[in-house]
Amino acid sequence: MIDKQSPIPIYHQLEEQIKGKIEKGEYMPGDSLPSEREYAEELNISRMTVRQAITNLVNERYLHRIKGKGTFITEKKFEQNLSGLTSFTEDMKARGMKPSNKLVNFEIVPAKKSLASQLNIPEHSPIYEIKRIRLAEDIPMALERTYVSANLIKGLTDDIVQSSLYQYIEDDLQLKIGKASQLFEATIANDEEMEYLNIPEHSPILLMRRITQLEDGTPFEVVKSAYRADRYQFMLDLER
Ligand code: GLP
Repeated sequence: MIDKQSPIPIYHQLEEQIKGKIEKGEYMPGDSLPSEREYAEELNISRMTVRQAITNLVNERYLHRIKGKGTFITEKKFEQNLSGLTSFTEDMKARGMKPSNKLVNFEIVPAKKSLASQLNIPEHSPIYEIKRIRLAEDIPMALERTYVSANLIKGLTDDIVQSSLYQYIEDDLQLKIGKASQLFEATIANDEEMEYLNIPEHSPILLMRRITQLEDGTPFEVVKSAYRADRYQFMLDLER
């Protein structure tokens, strides 16, 4: 309902009304929004006012416009807290979501110089090269390339990497995962990421590189994860 007598500007009332419908689930992510004309006619207000409300909601990222198609409700992003060293499987389960993997590639290869030095092993030592599409509720979230030292993390199989790598390391191998250093970079999807993540050309990507160590300081994995920036956001609590 719009109250024309109210001191609250009409565009602001409309914004609140649309936000309320998104929160209540009357408008679902991905749905298209009624047109400016429809709102204007239904509420008996000017199209300019409707446009102002919609523009504000686009700026606040509740809505987004797609050229030639219209205005849509934006998907809610997954928020990943960065304060713990967790696995993808744990992150998804903590949110009550079903994780799964599509294995793109799994093989043993000799380590090239730079990977060998990051894993602190001699050049040409065997490493597992694992490429997985990581999904939540069957939606692709990230394309992850993992390089694991094969002399340290023994006995990996495709069944294991289709489930959880960290669980295998801790529960089956009884090794303790210690800490990781992680680097973030904003980029746009390359051809491979476009294809496997099912996203359009030039989509934004959050690229994350991680080197993880066992508790005794031995590095065991080098990981490059390409997360969909339209679906993911990262959160850090900072203390002073
Ligand atoms: C995250 C991390 C990776 C790690 C993976 C393990 O995605 N970025 O560095 O290898 O979790 O996940 P899982 O135990 O589910 O295989």
